[in-house]
Amino acid sequence: MTHPTHDDEKTVALAFSGGLDTTVCVPLLKEEYGYDEVIGVTVDVGQPEAEMTEAAETADALDIEQVVLDEVDDFAAVCLDAVQANADYQGYPLGTALARPVIAEAILDAAEEYGCSALAHGCTGKGNDQLRFEAVWRASDLDVIAPVRELGLTRDWELEYAAEKGLPVEGGNEGDWSIDANLWSRSVEGSDLEDPGHVPPEDVYEWTDEPGSADPETVTVTFESGVPVAVDGEAMDPAELIAHLNDVAGAHGVGRTDMMEDRMLGLKVRENYEHPAATVLLTAHEALEGLVLTKDERDAKADVDAQWGEKAYEGLLAAPVVDALEAFIETTQATVTGTVTCKLHGGTVRPVARDTDHAAYSESAASFDTETVDGIAQDDATGVAKYHGFQARLATEADGDDESGSDDTGTTGEDEPEGSTTEPAPLTDGGNREE
Ligand code: ARG
Repeated sequence: MTHPTHDDEKTVALAFSGGLDTTVCVPLLKEEYGYDEVIGVTVDVGQPEAEMTEAAETADALDIEQVVLDEVDDFAAVCLDAVQANADYQGYPLGTALARPVIAEAILDAAEEYGCSALAHGCTGKGNDQLRFEAVWRASDLDVIAPVRELGLTRDWELEYAAEKGLPVEGGNEGDWSIDANLWSRSVEGSDLEDPGHVPPEDVYEWTDEPGSADPETVTVTFESGVPVAVDGEAMDPAELIAHLNDVAGAHGVGRTDMMEDRMLGLKVRENYEHPAATVLLTAHEALEGLVLTKDERDAKADVDAQWGEKAYEGLLAAPVVDALEAFIETTQATVTGTVTCKLHGGTVRPVARDTDHAAYSESAASFDTETVDGIAQDDATGVAKYHGFQARLATEADGDDESGSDDTGTTGEDEPEGSTTEPAPLTDGGNREE
């Protein structure tokens, strides 16, 4: 469907948050790029109500048409994919990175619906978000415009320009820090936080209270095939469940990350994040996997998870490799059903109990209290113990011989035909190699 009123005009769809960058983009798209009309598209991915209101007010003050799209449920579904993949990037649970492709897709759809010929974002040329937006947009036929990057704008220049033009940046995201929040995480960067030696003041935090200010509390998460479906026995839809855990765990200061992050372009950046629900869900999910998956599955999945996290950070979850990674992840999640109880206290979340019908675990096998398990006696491990470390012992011994100058070929020293396979001598006394 094409919005009829824009057919004869040159119209651009701008990713619009109402912050300083996207606000200055509005006049620039007209003055510098010659667009007749700018449509501000604001996508709801669970950012605070106040931000949505602010965006609407700013659009109104700028006298542009604003399109608001509710993608909260779609975004929540992506967050739960991230839980199944135990996803993080260098310790950051990826909120902004997960949201950008969702936002970019929604804006592209709106641009097509409203007959726009171009898409614009207010990202700088230094960050990750330009890459995430454009990875989606450049698959379309529409022009892609990045005024802040292309015109080399700085924050100071933008503030001056906004003042000159009387742009509405008063109540907006024009504070000292650059903040990006959605359902999954809140990121704060810039200004005094750019100094890695500067301790963040308490007012950096909005979702988390000072750790230790609340009494310890437990929370029980129910998973069905790797998907969290209930908290403390109460079924919730994904967005509701995440928002609830942000409140509960945020009161304990859970989910603060202060880190040096390696951006895609290679620049390091000091980031502060808050992500209480993500921390609880990732911790609980991994705890349940620890009970139901075999060691081999856990090892292989750790590699797959790391790759999923990397692609998510890059904003490339639509890449074909991710389908393959997700096929593996999905296979492993069949048994990730059960509950995990976590203790929240002093900024930490710690699994304290797990329950499932799918445990790859036998209490009686591992117990100190049983003599035999399925007919296997303790003593049956003696043979295994004799072989354990066999190669390392041989190598260490051979090394020692090398140092003493003897000619050690690593064989038993007997004259063997080439390629013969000699069983290693058992490691009983006197059974070792003799030179
Ligand atoms: N560094 C993070 C990322 O690339 C978050 C950036 C968020 N933006 C902001 N203005 N705080 O995913």
